[in-house]
Amino acid sequence: MTTITTRTAAVQLRQVRRTYPDGAGTVEALAGVSLELHPGSFTAIMGPSGSGKSTLLSCAAGLDTPTSGSVVIEGVDLAALRPDAVTRLRRDRIGFVFQAYNLVAHLTVAENVALPLLLAGREPDAHLRRYLMHAVGLTGLEDRLPGELSGGQAQRVAIARALITRPAVVFADEPTGALDSHTGAQVLDVLRTTAEALAQTLVLVTHDPRVAAAAQRVVFLADGRLAAHLDAPDADQVAARMAELGHAAELGHAAELGHAAELGHAAELGRAAEVAR
Ligand SMILES: Nc1ncnc2c1ncn2[C@@H]1O[C@H](COP(=O)(O)OP(=O)(O)O)[C@@H](O)[C@H]1O
Ligand SMILES: [Mg+2]
Repeated sequence: MTTITTRTAAVQLRQVRRTYPDGAGTVEALAGVSLELHPGSFTAIMGPSGSGKSTLLSCAAGLDTPTSGSVVIEGVDLAALRPDAVTRLRRDRIGFVFQAYNLVAHLTVAENVALPLLLAGREPDAHLRRYLMHAVGLTGLEDRLPGELSGGQAQRVAIARALITRPAVVFADEPTGALDSHTGAQVLDVLRTTAEALAQTLVLVTHDPRVAAAAQRVVFLADGRLAAHLDAPDADQVAARMAELGHAAELGHAAELGHAAELGHAAELGRAAEVAR
């Protein structure tokens, strides 16, 4: 007897379009993007500022709704779900790391890490919490407040917070954009190794060819479209392709705050709090 198994994609985008009102007209942030990410894969997203990277992540993570096209997470079409079901799916299956750490200032490190579960009315798993605190190198800092942390430490708290729900898919939107390159490299290492250890699908927006080279696939966006992709490239190949695509200026790209993502996250925490009530 033959058994045929088909692996359900972790994330599938089908012709995702997202437009925003812009004065009298509209701006097309995503112009029809189709993408399929396998469970446990690591994908890097690159492209110049304004090419649609944050919009792509927000739509894929259910933080934003496409104008047309569909987003399917582990076989579930988000458009078929009611808003509260999207919130639950996002809370249970998706982790998101923002460039601006978005920690709650009056909560301790341990409380910030546990927040997604507390909002869901669930107890954090003590073993997983200890594992994550150790994995991100924060053991001993549980009682600190965010104001008492360095940028690198704060982002590692945000990573532990994104992973505490054991999400199937972790999205990170330029998570090291506000850090110096050494600290940024450490933070990315933490993100990559924990995602690997927990068999998670990782999607990372980055401007750094060396970082992108650690991914299995690098996807390039330009003007809201997929411009190219490279499988298992080295950093030189990534840099060359960026230059080819006219992104040379982006190589030295500095911190650019993901405002849309932040707003999405604030809204998400608000919605999660509502659901938990
Ligand atoms: N909330 C919004 N309202 C209006 N325009 C937006 C909004 N979010 C993004 N855009 C526009 O959509 C395009 C893509 O933005 P974004 O996804 O943030 O790009 P990237 O992350 O690659 O820099 C840009 O032209 C941006 O100005
Ligand atoms: Mg962005």
